[in-house]
Amino acid sequence: MGNRRVLVVGAAGRLGAAIVDVFADRVVIAHTRASLDITDAALVTKAVQDAAPAVIVNCAAFNDVDGAEDRPAEALATNALALRTLARAADVAGATLVHYGSDFVFDGTATEPYREDASPSPMSTYAASKLLGEWFALDAARGFVLRVESLFGGPRGLTGRRGSLDGIVEGLQQGRAVPVFTDRVVSPSYVDDIARATRHLIDTEAAPGLYHCVNSGHATWYDVAVEAARILDVTPRLEPITMDQVRLKARRPRFCALANRKLAAAGFVMPAWHDALRRWLASPEGGIRHDTMDRVHG
Ligand SMILES: NC(=O)c1ccc[n+]([C@@H]2O[C@H](COP(=O)([O-])OP(=O)(O)OC[C@H]3O[C@@H](n4cnc5c(N)ncnc54)[C@H](OP(=O)(O)O)[C@@H]3O)[C@@H](O)[C@H]2O)c1
Repeated sequence: MGNRRVLVVGAAGRLGAAIVDVFADRVVIAHTRASLDITDAALVTKAVQDAAPAVIVNCAAFNDVDGAEDRPAEALATNALALRTLARAADVAGATLVHYGSDFVFDGTATEPYREDASPSPMSTYAASKLLGEWFALDAARGFVLRVESLFGGPRGLTGRRGSLDGIVEGLQQGRAVPVFTDRVVSPSYVDDIARATRHLIDTEAAPGLYHCVNSGHATWYDVAVEAARILDVTPRLEPITMDQVRLKARRPRFCALANRKLAAAGFVMPAWHDALRRWLASPEGGIRHDTMDRVHG
């Protein structure tokens, strides 16, 4: 049997935990930030050498979009330069490198879902750092970049940042008023589905390169919140807001839907976002209250 070793870096994050799970039948060497800082090139090179993996999956990232405007060197070191190190180390080890990109590489002026061949046009330091990271990762002989967005799922007690859906679901369950954008269009993405897609590309020895990997379809955050309330069987108290009403440090794209056709052509069809949302809310991590569990319908 061939090399079954999988090195996961950034393993304590939202997606990292799902990746560790999806490769559970292989030999997984999982590093959190505490055991491996991916901006330390010497340590990364040694960790890859020691692990001798067939596959390296990078789930570590600097995801503080507004914070990146104040700390650009940190964002670039983590989201971009670390990928140069990982790509070089992957090539030396003869390993496949998997990295995750972001919808924020686009400026959000499109009117239909972005495909992989659409021109990126980053509008923030975070977005530029993610784009540079893609380029470095794709320099690896077997480099995959999966662009993902608006992640949800993952274990409770994550070390990483909370996602928009965590806040929406928590607010709905507590009966609080929940402010939601009516003019940001997203393709929300369940980390379990992204992990399964990653596994598929590896197991089928798909062609390396750039893939969009989001749950299928798209909606405004307002529509996503309405659907979450329906699944949870709660009466939502939603406060519709527009992006113009909120002052954020980094500019964000308005229309972020991504098209998954290339992934589908490689044999993996991403489930619809509302199906993914329902599965997450019904899971032990999904935050659905037990008293509403019996009444879930949809
Ligand atoms: N979340 C989203 O909605 C979203 C959207 C688009 C793209 N993505 C991309 O999807 C991927 C996974 O994101 P995620 O949401 O799972 O991230 P996450 O939950 O924020 O986890 C990222 C992990 O990386 C760790 N980390 C940060 N800097 C590090 C470093 N220098 N060395 C080693 N580890 C480091 C973090 O540790 P600390 O918490 O200790 O810093 C955290 O455990 C990333 O590439 C991200 O950019 C995510």
